[in-house]
Parts: sequence; C-alpha cells; structure tokens
Amino acid sequence: MAAKSLQELFVEELRDAYDGEKRLTKALPRMAKAAENEDLRAAFTSHLRETERHVQRLEQVFRTVGESVRGKKCDGLMGIIEEGKSAMEELEGPVLDAALIAGAQRAEHYEIAAYGTLAYFAEMLGNDKAKELLGQTLDEEKAADEKLTDIAKSEVNREALMGTGESEEEEMPRVARRGARGMVASARGGSRGNGTSRATAHDRSRGGVRGNAGGRRRSRSSR
Ligand SMILES: [Fe+2]
Repeated sequence: MAAKSLQELFVEELRDAYDGEKRLTKALPRMAKAAENEDLRAAFTSHLRETERHVQRLEQVFRTVGESVRGKKCDGLMGIIEEGKSAMEELEGPVLDAALIAGAQRAEHYEIAAYGTLAYFAEMLGNDKAKELLGQTLDEEKAADEKLTDIAKSEVNREALMGTGESEEEEMPRVARRGARGMVASARGGSRGNGTSRATAHDRSRGGVRGNAGGRRRSRSSR
C-alpha cells in the first residue's frame, strides 16, 4: 500500500525498521560467533541485547499509533547482512574481524538514518511517546557505532594490517598467504565505515600505505 500521508509513511517506515531489527537479531549471534577479537565478540553480543530492546520499543511505537505490529521486508539491511555472510565464508582471522566491523557499521549507519527520520516524523506528528522511544534507540545505535570505531582503531584494523603478509617474520604464515585477499578486504573496509576509514588514514600517516604497496608487489611477483 502506497503511503498517502506522513502518518502512513511513518507506519511504513516503522515496518521497515521492525523487519531490519528482526533480521539483525538473527545476524548478530552469527557475527559474534565468527569474530576472533574478544572485544568485538562482546560488542556484538551486547548489541544483540540492545537490538532485542529495539524490537520491543518498535512494538511500543506501533501501539502509540494503534497499528498492528508487522514488518515489511527491509531490502537495505538484508543486503548488508548478505554481504556480511559472504565475508564470513571468504575471510578469516583479523581480516574477517575488520570486514565484520565494516559491515556492522554500515548497518548502524543505515539504522541511524532510519531512526533519525522516524524520530523526526514522530515529532512532526506530535507523537511525543514515539519520539522519545525512537530517540532512545537512535542514541544506542550511535553509541554502538562509536564503540565499533574504537575497537577498529585500537585493535582490529592494526591486527588485520599485521596479518596481510607484509614481513618475513610474520607469525601467521597461513594468514600471510591470504594477504592478497586481505588487501581487498582492507581496502573495502576502508571505504565502508567511519572507523575503518579513519584508522586506515591513521595508518597511512604512520608511513604504511600498505594496501596499495601490497597490491603492486603482488602484481610484480605474479608476472
Ligand atoms: Fe537497532
């Protein structure tokens, strides 16, 4: 049904967000299981608890407008979750962790946009209760995003960089052999999220433009 008013659009967007949150409650346990870094695993687990609360809050918001609690397929988050599944199949170790953060931050930014809009719609519609509930979730999504940035910058991106086969004394030869794939993941991670891109810029400022260097070296050695 095409929305004909802001009120109807608000309900449609609520259904989209509800479906997205439900999908995330299924994806986050898989992400926690796949993560190697302990802090990252803990962050995914704690965001799962929050996400369950986000689902409940959305149910409360549905009640404020007297609408049935029902989701509508959220293509956006579905795509982001699918990308995460591919990363889990193809990558491993710290490089997988970096890719998981990149994907999770894409999801957070998607949700931040969705909840920002929903909270504003609620305000426009004079629905103070909904505005408050949606605002609480918005704040939690922002905090989750920042936490991921911190983990990326303080640990994971550096670990992924170490695991890209830069040096002969690399302690994890299997990971080193996967260096070329890691380069791709790092580059993709760098363009995806705040945290990862800032960390990459930070790494560059320390003299390690490794993604590009690795790529060039690989093409030389493959000649
Ligand atoms: Fe959420």
